[in-house]
Amino acid sequence: MRTSSIVDGDAVEQLLLLAGALRSGLIDALAGGEARSVAEVAAAAGADRRATGIVLDALAATGVVERVTEGGVSYRLTPVGKAHLVDEGPRMERSRLLHQVNKVRGWLELPEVIRTGEPASKGKGPRDIATRSLAMGERDPDLLEEVVERCLAYGGTVRTMIDVGGAVGHLARRFSRRGIKATLLDQEAVIPLAREYLGADADAIDFITADYTRSLPAGPFDLVYFGNVYHIYSPETNARVTREAFSTVSPGGVIAIQDYILGRSAQAAMFAVNMLRSTVDGGVWTEEQHREWLRDAGFVEIEVVDLDSASTQLVLARRPRGL
Ligand SMILES: C[S@@+](CC[C@H](N)C(=O)[O-])C[C@H]1O[C@@H](n2cnc3c(N)ncnc32)[C@H](O)[C@@H]1O
Repeated sequence: MRTSSIVDGDAVEQLLLLAGALRSGLIDALAGGEARSVAEVAAAAGADRRATGIVLDALAATGVVERVTEGGVSYRLTPVGKAHLVDEGPRMERSRLLHQVNKVRGWLELPEVIRTGEPASKGKGPRDIATRSLAMGERDPDLLEEVVERCLAYGGTVRTMIDVGGAVGHLARRFSRRGIKATLLDQEAVIPLAREYLGADADAIDFITADYTRSLPAGPFDLVYFGNVYHIYSPETNARVTREAFSTVSPGGVIAIQDYILGRSAQAAMFAVNMLRSTVDGGVWTEEQHREWLRDAGFVEIEVVDLDSASTQLVLARRPRGL
């Protein structure tokens, strides 16, 4: 038997198993917490009984579900399964897993992507925007807190901020809860999802629907934040957006860019393949490219920080006070 491999093929199958169980309704059939028989789970999910039994046993083998044998065989979610797949909270990763599987479709076209240099055709059609946006909302709370802390520590007085490409507002909400007037900018299809995700927090946040590569709001904002968006576009677009951001930042205010920096993030090279398969000219960019865009736009005091809670970097810079 082979004792080692350069890939963990089981992890891929486990991901697909969890996504299949989520999408087919098997996990939700157990969401109530009580143990249910195969027949009950299959009936609740509208699923085939034999298939349900096989998948429930596999879920039990992964530790998401527990097999109960008192009074006949039944299944219930384990505390791990509940925390990661059902209960809203810091460990929830339901949308993130589904988004990961959506991405696999494009990865399967990698040979063609490599041959043509074009993104995968699956990436060109209508996308599952809700899953992608909600997956962003499941980012690690420690990462979000670290970003807020570092932006505020660098920025000093921050009264207003805009989160450009902020998805469902998971970061904007954290600034808002600190008493900072937050604005969330994203594409038209995302803003209603953000309002729903934010619930009561949405009342304190301003929303802007826009294509930020065409124009940014006049502001000014004390902090203009770009999280994981510079990798979607080319260096030329990023240079132009950075120049435009200069007028959107208040004099003395801050621009912050969070992303995988090539040469500093251990995950950057792998992430570049994600952009290769899903965008026309996105990618991961070096520290020097970021510094050049910022310097050319007029920003000063450029700092590049390796985040403790993620393998990404935070690039911070200031618009000079008198300008
Ligand atoms: C990878 S997600 C990052 C979300 C969030 N900033 C974060 O770091 O968790 C990229 C977000 O940018 C938005 N976006 C991409 N291109 C955009 C554009 N040209 N104008 C406005 N929003 C854009 C997408 O809709 C998506 O919500």
